[in-house]
Amino acid sequence: MALVIEKGPTLRERTTLRLGGRTLAEVGARTDADWDELPKALERLGGRPLVLGWGSNILACDGELPLVVVNPPAPVGPAPVGTREGAIVVRVGASVRLPLLLAWTASKGLAGLEGLAGIPGTVGGAVAMNAGSYGCEVGQCLSRVKLFSPSTGVGWIESDLFTCAYRSFAVLGPAARDSFRVILEVEFTLMVGSPELLRKVMKECLARKTATQPVRAASAGCVFRNPAPGVSAGRLMDQAGLKGRSLGGMAFSELHANFLVNTGQGRSEHALELMDIARRVVREKFGHELETEVEVVGCS
Ligand code: EPU
Repeated sequence: MALVIEKGPTLRERTTLRLGGRTLAEVGARTDADWDELPKALERLGGRPLVLGWGSNILACDGELPLVVVNPPAPVGPAPVGTREGAIVVRVGASVRLPLLLAWTASKGLAGLEGLAGIPGTVGGAVAMNAGSYGCEVGQCLSRVKLFSPSTGVGWIESDLFTCAYRSFAVLGPAARDSFRVILEVEFTLMVGSPELLRKVMKECLARKTATQPVRAASAGCVFRNPAPGVSAGRLMDQAGLKGRSLGGMAFSELHANFLVNTGQGRSEHALELMDIARRVVREKFGHELETEVEVVGCS
């Protein structure tokens, strides 16, 4: 087998913020062994890798992008693969959508991930950034990760070789030195719970999200990290008068100030300029430095 290499997609079509120009190529692997060819293929294609899931946490720049989109393998699972101290171990492929995984865990009565209801991304993307919501983080239930990295090839790593923190996932050991890695599959350790209760919790999370976040707008979720525990970047931005502030086709949402939305013909330069304004205003008014939470790609 060999890597599948195709024409590069436009990131506007592959990201929920609907921004971003054309990439150089798109690659995917059909077998685990194919991944070993990736570093050479990237060299040949002359681009940096962008591992792409649902594209729901990415702000991509417009124009020609020196990027090669790397697609995780086709969806596999979820499926129970064993037990650990009374809990159930579930294996699932990186490209499975988080909402699909949550519908499955609720139907099987498996608890631990239900607070993530309403996060649109794929499992791989959610792990790569340790996605979280309402006190629940992906990393809390994550027990093993199968990944490709140029120096280690494809293999499973156990929880002693990765760390999860607020919106971050980092690998330790040899793979830590690589400039990129591709999450292929993961295992979650989930507790036995009641399907009715899990569905109720998920419904409540979704209702809360719909009431406070622009879930149907073209956005990439929160653009800035919260600057300190218990300090909401959105609240600071709101208090600084940034709700609804717009430039071209981009605006900070009227519902939640930390959501940058594309109202139609948005452009990345306007998105970046609005973010600069927010950083400056929040620094001047509150003394907090806002750090970017979305992955900004392809910008020089
Ligand atoms: N608030 C405002 N104005 C706003 C936004 C928020 O006054 O424009 C207030 C709210 O009323 C509330 C407080 O700020 O009193 C906190 O708001 P919220 O519950 O929305 O939480 P957040 O800290 O703003 C974080 C995450 C969200 C996650 C929610 C719920 C970050 C950067 N954001 O937002 O995650 O959904 O908690 O758990 O950590 C994301 O990561 O993309 C994201 C959306």
